[in-house]
Amino acid sequence: MCGIIGVVGKADVVPSLIEGLKRLEYRGYDSAGIATLVNDSIERRRSEGKIARLEEKVAGNGIHGDIGIGHTRWATHGVPNERNAHPHATDRVALVHNGIIENYRELAAELSALGHVFASETDSEIAAHLITRYLNEGMTPQQAVATAIKRMDGAYALAILFKGEHDLIVGARKGSPLAVGWGEGEMYLGSDALALSPFARRISYLEEGDWVEISRAGAIFHDEQDRVVDRPAKPTALSGAMIGKGNYPHFMLKEIYEQPGVIGDTLRSMWNPASGAIDLPPLDIDLAAISRITLVACGTSYLGAMVAKYWFEKVARIAADIDIASEFRYRDTPLEADGLAIFISQSGETIDTLAALRHAKEAGQKTIAIVNVPESTMAREADAVLPTLAGPEIGVASTKAFTCQLVLLACLVIATARARGAISGAEEARLSNAIAEVPSRAAEVLNGDEAIQALAAEVAEARDVLYIGRNTGYPIALEGALKLKEISYIHAEGYAAGELKHGPIALIDDTVPVIVVAPSDALFEKTFSNMQEVMARGGKVIFMSDAKGCAHIGKEAFATIELPHVHPFVAPILYAIPVQLLAYHVAVIKGTDVDQPRNLAKSVTVE
Ligand code: F6R
Repeated sequence: MCGIIGVVGKADVVPSLIEGLKRLEYRGYDSAGIATLVNDSIERRRSEGKIARLEEKVAGNGIHGDIGIGHTRWATHGVPNERNAHPHATDRVALVHNGIIENYRELAAELSALGHVFASETDSEIAAHLITRYLNEGMTPQQAVATAIKRMDGAYALAILFKGEHDLIVGARKGSPLAVGWGEGEMYLGSDALALSPFARRISYLEEGDWVEISRAGAIFHDEQDRVVDRPAKPTALSGAMIGKGNYPHFMLKEIYEQPGVIGDTLRSMWNPASGAIDLPPLDIDLAAISRITLVACGTSYLGAMVAKYWFEKVARIAADIDIASEFRYRDTPLEADGLAIFISQSGETIDTLAALRHAKEAGQKTIAIVNVPESTMAREADAVLPTLAGPEIGVASTKAFTCQLVLLACLVIATARARGAISGAEEARLSNAIAEVPSRAAEVLNGDEAIQALAAEVAEARDVLYIGRNTGYPIALEGALKLKEISYIHAEGYAAGELKHGPIALIDDTVPVIVVAPSDALFEKTFSNMQEVMARGGKVIFMSDAKGCAHIGKEAFATIELPHVHPFVAPILYAIPVQLLAYHVAVIKGTDVDQPRNLAKSVTVE
């Protein structure tokens, strides 16, 4: 994680560095810093905490310059304090880094023996000293970086400023993303297009192993073998204004409320309005010929994969395995010939999911990336891309990207079922119609927000909360628990409802709210019985169902949350929304930092 920015400008670059860092804050927010060149010296300002703290420090402690770099950190090596904050500097360079240098101990020992003294506990500082070593040996800045990066194992995106070089920043990329923004007589480096979008209309992406020299005149790209290469500049669709909160108090709430719209946008990209049928963009993958599906992701995106497993197996009649990316990449599982591997990621940069994608490609799988950032590394590396059209998701807890992933996966399931002849025309029409209703049904769910907010005070009192569900309600139970713990810091677990009596039921007493995800479907009665078992032990049930399900339960539950009645196929997409809202309102009552919860970052680019 961490966000990096670099600017070779025409005037003072400090405001642009701060603006870029604010847009990158979702990547990490435990400390931040900037460095500029002033006359012949490197000036730095760093601070623990968020960008706002750095901004105050910069305002009260004049730093200027027409060239500079900046960083917002998510700590890996060394606690988040000012000493460990980037940029790291020597007498010759200042450097910002996103990633982990795995052989830093070995490099540190070598550099110590040469007399280098380190000021921080970070792996990143070693890179600054390594480059300095080669400069001291007489290399040019470009040669020094090209030589140093060949000695660094692990992952990095780097931006480096050199004392005495007022028209040069060198960037390098391996494992962590880095982009070049083309401005008007100014050039930019940044972790993503979002950071660069206020300044640059065209963006070039560095490939794995690339390094780049930027100056006011443009950029010169080099590949891993130091050959000059072309990295085309593409127009960016992101607008500089797109990331405001509007009238919402938090990005998360805004993003929850955007769901009817963005689900509709995602659906329309896979929908033939004339026939009413699902019509995927050309994939160049024969869905009829695949023998098995493997879905791989992390966190909330993994729970999207879990919902899709139920769908692929039931609707398309094809075996589907799911895996957490950090496990899949090292497990060395045998993969079938003609297998299809699907990678799901909001950011398209999560390092474990990306490594899993590369592993699957090497193992001969056809690969599809389902990503929300169309320019992301996964989108560039997979055989085919299906973009969710959720728009930038800034709140660290994923909401709208998740429901858009589900809609997209539902469409892919229908297309696969049709290609395999596993579904009748009538059934396909029923499922397609059910998906077409999701945007308006999602708006109805949001109309019930007040009732959910009213329940939040009760949940906020709890020390532990359980979520249960069956079938596709099970991943939604897991998602509810994940959302609650990550933003309210209340301990929560999700279970398959039938699994409760195999252990977790021991946790239940009258202080434990149990959220039951129970759309009226073929397993409703089973989930209902599990709920009775909870209530018999004093558990405080909050029951989520449609009118029919809620009528069934009468007044027995502590509370009910009524959702519109929908086809069970699309129920998980809609039931994701009340669990998001509940977590949000509980977090607001608890007074946590909803958009930037402690210890987390939006984009996880380290293992
Ligand atoms: C939870 C959340 C995370 C992400 C996970 C994967 O609310 O947002 O669990 O889902 O870090 O991130 P992506 O989807 O970018 O690969």
